[in-house]
Amino acid sequence: MKNPFRRKALRASFGTVLITGASRGIGRALALAMAPFCERLILTARSEADLKAVASQIKGPSVHILVHALTGFESGVALAKKLRKFKGVDTVILNAGVSQNLPFLSATQETLSHEFNVNYFSALGLTQTLLPRLLKSAEPTLVGVSSLTAGVPFPGNANYSASKAALLAWLRTLAVEHSAEGLRTCAVLPGYTDTGIVPEGGSILPAMSPESVAESTVEGLRARKSLILPGWINQLGFRFERTAPVSFDWLVARLAPLVVPGWGSESGDRE
Ligand SMILES: NC(=O)c1ccc[n+]([C@@H]2O[C@H](COP(=O)([O-])OP(=O)(O)OC[C@H]3O[C@@H](n4cnc5c(N)ncnc54)[C@H](OP(=O)(O)O)[C@@H]3O)[C@@H](O)[C@H]2O)c1
Repeated sequence: MKNPFRRKALRASFGTVLITGASRGIGRALALAMAPFCERLILTARSEADLKAVASQIKGPSVHILVHALTGFESGVALAKKLRKFKGVDTVILNAGVSQNLPFLSATQETLSHEFNVNYFSALGLTQTLLPRLLKSAEPTLVGVSSLTAGVPFPGNANYSASKAALLAWLRTLAVEHSAEGLRTCAVLPGYTDTGIVPEGGSILPAMSPESVAESTVEGLRARKSLILPGWINQLGFRFERTAPVSFDWLVARLAPLVVPGWGSESGDRE
């Protein structure tokens, strides 16, 4: 039996927290769920009106909004520079993301690059510039909202999944590179969640709410987890894929036309 006295206390505060993509969906839910455990929240996205609406619902910590478009590495660097006006940052949640939901054969170089620029390279530009300041925190924490699809294939998500797998691998390696300086990284792998990123009628699979994803995330972060898989169905899928990847992929290929309306079983393309 585990000795309860040896378990580390749950984190009570994440200090000053930056959340990207905080205007809607999972980022908005995270801002609301993190608020009781923050001293200051810095929320960023492109939509000022949506950011203001989120900020108005937060009681407790001071809230600052930064309107900023993430379009690639340089835009991440520019965001980090805007953060210099704050005394320090303790926790960064890299959440902003896009998904084109396109079969690979319909994608163009532009759509492929855009997914990687927003989901991956902007996170790199932001982190590389901000990391020296973040490492001055008592408990520097870097969180990346990756995706279950980083390890589990889902039709229409080939390039998106690759961008999320890149984020996951990068975060793990960064934790190793900076472990001596106390950097804690955490990858959050949400499954299908009911937000604007998901196309209308995109799947018949049950979706989680962004609020449940945020609740699991905050719980996991307070317990200092390095990997968070919200929802037991997603945890089951993840374990199945890890144990029997070939069988798992075979099953997904057969089930795709049933769970993704319009997915052609022969061409592997949307009709
Ligand atoms: N929903 C799912 O099923 C699911 C599953 C796994 C992982 N995820 C991940 O969860 C994260 C949040 O997605 P969501 O589901 O909450 O989708 P969402 O509702 O579409 O929210 C995306 C957020 O990112 C911001 N954003 C998008 N493009 C941006 C850009 N170019 N520059 C700056 N901000 C940008 C959006 O704000 P503005 O439009 O105001 O800029 C918004 O706040 C993403 O990384 C996504 O990949 C989602």
